[in-house]
Amino acid sequence: MNTLHSPPRARFAEKAKSYDAHAKVQAEAAEWLAQWLPPESTCTEVLELGAGTGLFTQHLASQYPNATCTDVSQEMLAVCQERVSGLNYSIQDAWQPLPKPGTWDLITACSLLQWAPDPLEVVNNWAHALATDGRILTAFFIAPTLPEMEVVMGGTGPVQWRSTAQWQDIFTSVGLRIERFETDSRCYTFASAMHFWKAIHGTGATVSRRIKPSALLRFFRDYEDRFPDPKGVYSTWTFCRAELIRA
Ligand SMILES: C[S@@+](CC[C@H](N)C(=O)[O-])C[C@H]1O[C@@H](n2cnc3c(N)ncnc32)[C@H](O)[C@@H]1O
Repeated sequence: MNTLHSPPRARFAEKAKSYDAHAKVQAEAAEWLAQWLPPESTCTEVLELGAGTGLFTQHLASQYPNATCTDVSQEMLAVCQERVSGLNYSIQDAWQPLPKPGTWDLITACSLLQWAPDPLEVVNNWAHALATDGRILTAFFIAPTLPEMEVVMGGTGPVQWRSTAQWQDIFTSVGLRIERFETDSRCYTFASAMHFWKAIHGTGATVSRRIKPSALLRFFRDYEDRFPDPKGVYSTWTFCRAELIRA
């Protein structure tokens, strides 16, 4: 059976309308990252990558009303703009070199970086986009995240959940100074394995459509047998937040 995989962009576009209903984990990550937002006066040029429906943008906008808010998906950006008006909005692929290199005081990205196909190259691009003393503020998911799924599905999934040490290596090797770095493993319960599956699917962190109904039913049954909770089933997510400075 295929497991989670790095979602094609189009899949996020499809999920623009359903994302918020399923994005409890991502909403918590956004709140958690917002606690580290630098005070208003610190940054002038502010760029958000992978803004999605604006779960983090709403926090950013309260302190940085002139921020530039981007996503690769027009559909996601449209929902974001409905939630948070008045920012600058544009389409930007976060895996490509960023506009106006050397000028950004603050680059933010929430629940995005774990999908980077080549994190070293991507983080290097982000570092080059920063002004001197500029900072990256990012939250993403690291190992162990969704380990229960891997147990039930067998083997490792195509998402490579990297460790703290691997991410720290990536950041320092592109010349970023790690100002703050924190991880937090959280357990979430879902009414059933099917509800859990729908939440994963509804946020675009989707699973292969090639899974046969019989295999899916087997997954639900095995997940409920192995990872029960008084309220249904549980899953583990490990959050990471990092503040990185261009030295
Ligand atoms: C899991 S959502 C997170 C959205 C939002 N930041 C949040 O905290 O809820 C990931 C977002 O990243 C966007 N995305 C995926 N690949 C991207 C890329 N290469 N460049 C920019 N955005 C991308 C998706 O369209 C989606 O809106």
